[in-house]
Amino acid sequence: MTERNASADSSEKRAAGIAASQVVESGMIVGLGTGSTVAYTIKELGRRVRKEGLDILGVVTSYQSEMLAIEAGIPLTTLAQHPKLDLAIDGADQIDSNLNAIKGGGAAHTREKIVSASATRFLVVADESKTSVQLDKVVPIEVLPFAKELVIEKIRGLGGKPELRLALRKDGPVITDNGNFVLDSSFGVIQDPESLAIKLSSIPGVVEHGIFSNVDELYIGKKDGSVKIVRK
Ligand code: 5RP
Repeated sequence: MTERNASADSSEKRAAGIAASQVVESGMIVGLGTGSTVAYTIKELGRRVRKEGLDILGVVTSYQSEMLAIEAGIPLTTLAQHPKLDLAIDGADQIDSNLNAIKGGGAAHTREKIVSASATRFLVVADESKTSVQLDKVVPIEVLPFAKELVIEKIRGLGGKPELRLALRKDGPVITDNGNFVLDSSFGVIQDPESLAIKLSSIPGVVEHGIFSNVDELYIGKKDGSVKIVRK
């Protein structure tokens, strides 16, 4: 990616992230997703907490979003203390025209799915490049290390091509916040995301997969700085 593209890309992410933050009101318990797009939401919510007295509690989805939220000044709580959230906001790697999404590019999809499923309303923030008529990106699948070989065989049986996600220096696997591995699995064009989701969930040793079918609203940041909102 060129520097020019990188900055255009981040302005789209910024537009989406900030627009979605406007939905948040005092008194809400808010799920805070992981990634570079929702980072703009978290920073803006922190600004409103500090400057405007916005009175919210956040529930984080990763150590990354925890660090960011603490730095931004957002008071945090846990699902143990507040099991029901008013809202969750998160990014996505790809999202189709029916608002099915693939998540887990940051290996945080297990906690992201739990947090979004605990929320009354789930908003996804993304730049335009993430939208697609059908899902065809790799599906991140978090697996117990003990079950890796079995899960690989079962994913292949479903027509998938799993690859163990490696750390940046390629000297070992990525380890999730839950102590597990991630198998990035290609299925080509996914004709029926909900059916694939059920099949993946039934494999012993799969902790969670990155297919999300619970998105209520999508905020798409565009190159001209505008934001398109798509509702289910
Ligand atoms: C992390 C995620 C992210 O939300 C997803 O990868 C999008 O990230 P970004 O906003 O940086 O493109 O699912 O597990």
